[in-house]
Amino acid sequence: MTAQLIDGKKIAQQVREEVALAVGRRVSSGKSIPTLATVLVGNRADSAAYVASKSKACMELGMGSLSEHLPEDATQAEVEALVKKLDADPEVHGILVQLPLPAHLDEEKVLSLISIEKDVDGFSPLNIGRLAQKGREPLFIPCTPSGCVYLLEKSGVKIEGAHVVVLGRSNIVGLPVSLLLLARNATVTICHSRTKNLADVIRQADILIAAIGKPEFVRGDWIKPGAAVIDVGINTIPDPTKKSGKRLVGDVNFPEAKEVAGYITPVPGGVGPMTIAMLMKNTLAAAELQSS
Ligand code: GUN
Repeated sequence: MTAQLIDGKKIAQQVREEVALAVGRRVSSGKSIPTLATVLVGNRADSAAYVASKSKACMELGMGSLSEHLPEDATQAEVEALVKKLDADPEVHGILVQLPLPAHLDEEKVLSLISIEKDVDGFSPLNIGRLAQKGREPLFIPCTPSGCVYLLEKSGVKIEGAHVVVLGRSNIVGLPVSLLLLARNATVTICHSRTKNLADVIRQADILIAAIGKPEFVRGDWIKPGAAVIDVGINTIPDPTKKSGKRLVGDVNFPEAKEVAGYITPVPGGVGPMTIAMLMKNTLAAAELQSS
């Protein structure tokens, strides 16, 4: 192995400790407990696991957590009524609607009901619009993208002037991480399913952000020697050697990539823990913004 491993679990733990301390200070000064409401609709096992981790993190950091769960066949009106109720609740500081929603629901409409002050996911058009424009400050930055940038900065990877290739253009990761890195003066190329000569484009990357949801898609010989590789993918593949019969892999072929890259995040234990740490940070910031 030549690459330096970026230990997301350890870095996330440091962020969580800072948040827990700040929460403790806030509460002992008589202010309210920062509280996150999560909304899960349906029965996707991955979404249920993510939401459970987010609630658990709130408890561990001394924050409040309200977990709402609606059935798969919940109507648009039911989901909207729940989000409106949470948005009007002064004891709720942040609202997270776990995505994707079941296909019959209008995601854009649901998310539009979250006030910008409670939009701890940073998905509202106003937050994303501010992120996209020079000199404007969003209230909240989406959690996975800010986690990726935090990992690069903590590891001492120079972003300014670097050629960053982002693989994926999703609203949750690819697009906002591109905007964040552009704001830090990187030269950003966004690749997607229609990009021609993908491997050749990726070979030019000083920093690669892989977020396309395809297991072990990026091969070692696509990576520029010494590049920093941030793997956002969380994919389950069959593995008969494991008791569970499966294991998690990223979007990058880790065994190959670690021999070429300068820095690399593992899966699990890379970007995943950072997403939750940044959500906790945003929830505390939301409480600070809203309440005395
Ligand atoms: N689904 C996958 N990642 C996320 C996330 O960061 N926030 C929400 N709300 N849904 C997700």
